[in-house]
Amino acid sequence: MTHLLNIDPPDHTRLRRLVSAAFTPRRVAAFAPRVEELTHRLIDGFADRGSADLIHEFAFPLPIYAICDLLGVPEEDHDDFRDWAGMMLHTAGRRGGVGRAVKRMRGYLSELIERKRADPADDLITALIRASDHGEHLTGEEAAAMAFILLFAGFETTVNLIGNGTLALLRHPDRMEYLRGVVRAGDEPAVDRAVEELLRWDGPVEIATWRFAREPLTIGGRRIAPGDPVLVVLAAADRDPARFPDPDRLDLTRSDQQHLGYGHGIHYCLGAPLARLEGRIALSALLTRLPHLRLAVDPAELRWRGGLIMRGLRALPVDFRRETDLPAGNAPSGL
Ligand code: HEM
Repeated sequence: MTHLLNIDPPDHTRLRRLVSAAFTPRRVAAFAPRVEELTHRLIDGFADRGSADLIHEFAFPLPIYAICDLLGVPEEDHDDFRDWAGMMLHTAGRRGGVGRAVKRMRGYLSELIERKRADPADDLITALIRASDHGEHLTGEEAAAMAFILLFAGFETTVNLIGNGTLALLRHPDRMEYLRGVVRAGDEPAVDRAVEELLRWDGPVEIATWRFAREPLTIGGRRIAPGDPVLVVLAAADRDPARFPDPDRLDLTRSDQQHLGYGHGIHYCLGAPLARLEGRIALSALLTRLPHLRLAVDPAELRWRGGLIMRGLRALPVDFRRETDLPAGNAPSGL
């Protein structure tokens, strides 16, 4: 399937311009109250229980519901997307599962595009259909591929931002307290700075998608022939001591925010404004609604999903009962 991440200019330039006309920072900013609502509804689902798996019950559904809503997928169909996204996440690497989920999502989105053509609405799919550049429009096929890549690129990445970010805070209780303090004080710039540092410190995308050399290159003393693949390890660049002082330290007040968590160059993340919004709202809500948040298992028991490009947890079991409410002998696990 052809989409933004696997094409070069001039096709990439044209498609990116068209989608940027529809997926504007203004549209994303106007979406904040809806992300707040979705976030709190998900937390309501487990807040009274005292414990939860934050990946399964929070980090996983939030981005799926958010992007479905932004695109204009009717609410009664959101759970289909949740199921397909689940198949993509849990059957990655196994034959058939991902392919079936991708096919169903694409089929659904193509039909939805036809319905929106007949019955336009104030949503991103309608904006994609209408987007034009010098009189050019996206074809139905291109609009479906675009909606799909927004879902695909914006889903697991955001799951991992919330998962890895929360884990980083759980492992650094003093920094979690600092962030809770700035959230409560309504200091949005400080919260945004903290989210950027969480992305640098343990970002969702470990390695950028494949690049191929156009001409002979020498990188780090290795010769690379034209056509050879090159994998850029974004996570290593973001912990480079030549670039960031004390790079292994999680410093939520770090002023240098020029990390590579959202990539670099022409394929720089198109969804960064949405990801930042979701990250800020999700982490702020977790910290304020669950003041006793802590890991429910030993960190050594946490399991990471396999895969070359992404870095994310399979599950994040947490406990958020008051310590006085814990049964005797059931002290929270140490970090
Ligand atoms: C924290 C969450 C996110 C992270 C860390 C992230 C990271 C990235 C990275 C590293 C790239 C570049 C990949 C490469 O160069 O090979 C990228 C591209 C992209 N991202 Fe994101 N992303 C996030 C969320 C989102 C969201 C929410 C959306 C949309 C809803 C999105 C849409 C895209 C698209 C469409 C591209 C391809 C752009 C192009 O090729 O021109 N991303 N993202």
